[in-house]
Amino acid sequence: MIQGKWFAPGENLSAEVLPVRAEVFGGSGPAADPEGWNTVVFADGVPAASGRIWWADGAFRLGEIGVIPSHRGRKLGDLVLRLLLFKAQSHFAREVRLICPEDTEGFFARLGFRPVSRLDGTVEMMIPGDEIELDSCKNCKKENCPNRK
Ligand SMILES: CC(C)(COP(=O)(O)OP(=O)(O)OC[C@H]1O[C@@H](n2cnc3c(N)ncnc32)[C@H](O)[C@@H]1OP(=O)(O)O)[C@@H](O)C(=O)NCCC(=O)NCCS
Repeated sequence: MIQGKWFAPGENLSAEVLPVRAEVFGGSGPAADPEGWNTVVFADGVPAASGRIWWADGAFRLGEIGVIPSHRGRKLGDLVLRLLLFKAQSHFAREVRLICPEDTEGFFARLGFRPVSRLDGTVEMMIPGDEIELDSCKNCKKENCPNRK
């Protein structure tokens, strides 16, 4: 079973968020995040993916979006990104920004992020809040799908 869980600013991240971050990015980071919301996606009860959203300098920022290698390719990264964008949308975000490796640009472009600048193999991407589109059925070609009513 796939489940998502939110961690509010200041909550202890040691047991569920930091192990994912350590495996994906190395290092572990502080045990609590006083400014950001963190989300974890669990696969059969095991933390498999995580991501972070915070507000700074006039925009919502996303970071530390990562999926443990053995769980990649199962749409868990997509779910983390959608959870973070839903959080931004529910706070009426004017824009959402992130910095990612260039080889993940396509992953973020799928949900409407566009590149604004590049530096040393990384790219800063941005999506205006009113362009966030979380309806996963919208561009799906499947016909007679039970999700379509
Ligand atoms: C990028 C990352 C989060 C993707 O997670 P994932 O769970 O493997 O991706 P998903 O299974 O949710 O993929 C969803 C879609 O994005 C596509 N996709 C995944 N990684 C991609 C990439 N690097 N470039 C382009 N498209 C990508 C998939 O093919 C899939 O497409 P589909 O819907 O047409 O089938 C994961 O590879 C990761 O943790 N990378 C290392 C950390 C990192 O660089 N994070 C980003 C910056 S913070």
